[in-house]
Amino acid sequence: MSPIEEVILNKRTNINPIWIMRQAGRYLPEFREIRKINPNFIELCLNEKLSTEITLQPLIRFDLDAAIIFSDILMLPYGLNQKVEFKKGIGPILGDLNLENVLKLTENDFVEKVKPVYNLINLVKNSEITKNKSTIGFVGAPWTLLVYMINKESPKSGLKKNFFENKSLAKKTLAIIEKFLKIHIKHQIKNGAQIIQIFDSWAGLLDEKYLENYIYEPTSNLVEYVKSLNVPVICFPRNIKDYKSYCNIVSPSVICIDYNIDPKEISKNINIPVQGGMDPKILLSDKENLKREVKKYLDIFFDHPYIFNLGHGILPKTDPQMMDYLVKMVKDY
Ligand code: CP3
Repeated sequence: MSPIEEVILNKRTNINPIWIMRQAGRYLPEFREIRKINPNFIELCLNEKLSTEITLQPLIRFDLDAAIIFSDILMLPYGLNQKVEFKKGIGPILGDLNLENVLKLTENDFVEKVKPVYNLINLVKNSEITKNKSTIGFVGAPWTLLVYMINKESPKSGLKKNFFENKSLAKKTLAIIEKFLKIHIKHQIKNGAQIIQIFDSWAGLLDEKYLENYIYEPTSNLVEYVKSLNVPVICFPRNIKDYKSYCNIVSPSVICIDYNIDPKEISKNINIPVQGGMDPKILLSDKENLKREVKKYLDIFFDHPYIFNLGHGILPKTDPQMMDYLVKMVKDY
């Protein structure tokens, strides 16, 4: 069993497995090399040879315990024929969603469009480099995908004013998202994903009164679905105010926490395995500071099943040497 599975399934507390969100990405010069000559990000994700190479890049450099597949949560709208583009300095820009056409799409239509993602998982899982490591597949949570598909850009400065005006559009879109997320998850698992992480990056945007319909209910359905396939599921409801209620209602196998929540409060109130927490900006400071922060998290979770990770993705400005220092420190602790 891989160290991460030991923590999740056997609730082991005396090992500190580590992987890092966005571990395959722009802070690595070898990724930037490939990216430079592949300007279309979606096409790069769909190039199974290159996306396998990118997935494995951080594992060649660092002693990480998992490979997270190099893909994107926006492969879902892409697979539903919604236009997805990435603009430098702005982020993703989506086209209009044609509900009428989407309602006619079959499982096969979707799978044909995103098939290289499943081939990539197969290649990663069967690579010598991932022996005794976990291969992690992922999806966006229904709420976060709804945000991108209706807002059509990152809601960095809040949702567009009319976001909740068309309740029926939101409801119909959520049902479609849920249906195709299950399909996407099923095929990832069939091709070798041993763990699924659900990224709810915009969970923190919602008022309490919307949580039930937009987060708790649709995410619980997905969690139940992943568990029914005998695969552990990690949920990352970034910036949610009440992690305890979330865990009680949604019941993930592991809860991944952001850096705004006090880890002491989590270790006291939550009794499922925990992942993540440390602020990615710490990696931009110095080794002394990094050492202190890593120690803080490892000490707080010393008798708790814990997977080391950050409280959001690693920043593009991170020096790979700091990542190296981090991984070694966690492993030697
Ligand atoms: O973690 C990994 O190493 C796996 C790869 C991965 C990517 N995106 C690759 C990527 C994962 C797990 C994601 C998830 C994802 N994608 C989320 C959830 C996590 C989070 O960050 O909150 C979200 C919201 C997206 C949507 C998305 N994709 C955005 C907002 C952006 C642009 C912002 C940015 O960082 O530039 C992307 C592009 C993206 N996805 C890049 C990578 C490596 C950068 C592409 C590039 O310009 O090279």
